[in-house]
Amino acid sequence: MGEDRRAIGVFDSGIGGLTAMRELAALLPHEDIVYFGDTGRVPYGTRSRETIVKYARQDARFLCSFHLKLLLIACGTASYAALDTLQEELPIPVYGVVEGASRRAVELTRTGRVAVLATPATISGHVFGKCLKNLSPDVTVMEKACPLFVPIVENGRFQPEDPIVRILTEEYLAPVREAGVDTIILGCTHYPLLSEAISRCVPGAALISSGAEAAKMVAASLRNSALAAPQTHDGKRRYFVSDSVEQFRQNAGMYLCHPLDGDVEWVDIEKYE
Ligand code: DGL
Repeated sequence: MGEDRRAIGVFDSGIGGLTAMRELAALLPHEDIVYFGDTGRVPYGTRSRETIVKYARQDARFLCSFHLKLLLIACGTASYAALDTLQEELPIPVYGVVEGASRRAVELTRTGRVAVLATPATISGHVFGKCLKNLSPDVTVMEKACPLFVPIVENGRFQPEDPIVRILTEEYLAPVREAGVDTIILGCTHYPLLSEAISRCVPGAALISSGAEAAKMVAASLRNSALAAPQTHDGKRRYFVSDSVEQFRQNAGMYLCHPLDGDVEWVDIEKYE
């Protein structure tokens, strides 16, 4: 990544932000992208808002050392807790994952009944519910916290046949199925890794990946803007984590079905006060 070329920064508490990163890399092949997964401190979604803001600030501070043009908070929990703060504090555009997914849900729903699955922190803030209601006041929103999804995904347990995955998806999704929703926002960026298992519990419902929708918003805003990288540039990807590099590489490979397209390095995130 050249000194004079500015990159896109993306962060999440762990592997979940790759659901945004994958889409971003496909839509913006000429952009340099730096990803940070805070695997040493995951999960965020069961912590207090103050702690999540502190972590998000440190994550952003680390990524800003790469001379960023734009930051994507590829984490529903950090988007809920820290989007406003980071937008105020940073001199670059900062995006979260709430708006894109909510817009897509309003476009897709036919019955007006939408469910939001997210971490306990995100659900406590009702950020998706509020955004959906602003976009379409008639929509009925059901919000469901799924606290154990992130830990199982970070442990590489996201195959639909896995008994733990089956038990947890059934437990969390049974009330959603009963509510008769036709559209489900995966409001935590880890949850698309469980898409197949979730779909089996709620057949026929449309699933929306909040990370992928945010990536589309970022790509749309960047394309044709003065900030866009030249079409001749071959975009580079770099990955950083705050815990085991090997575990991240392994989980990422399992999710993407191919090895990561860039180096993975460890960073001491606590240094970034
Ligand atoms: N991917 C994060 C999110 O979107 C997971 C949060 C967590 O670590 O609990 O909310």
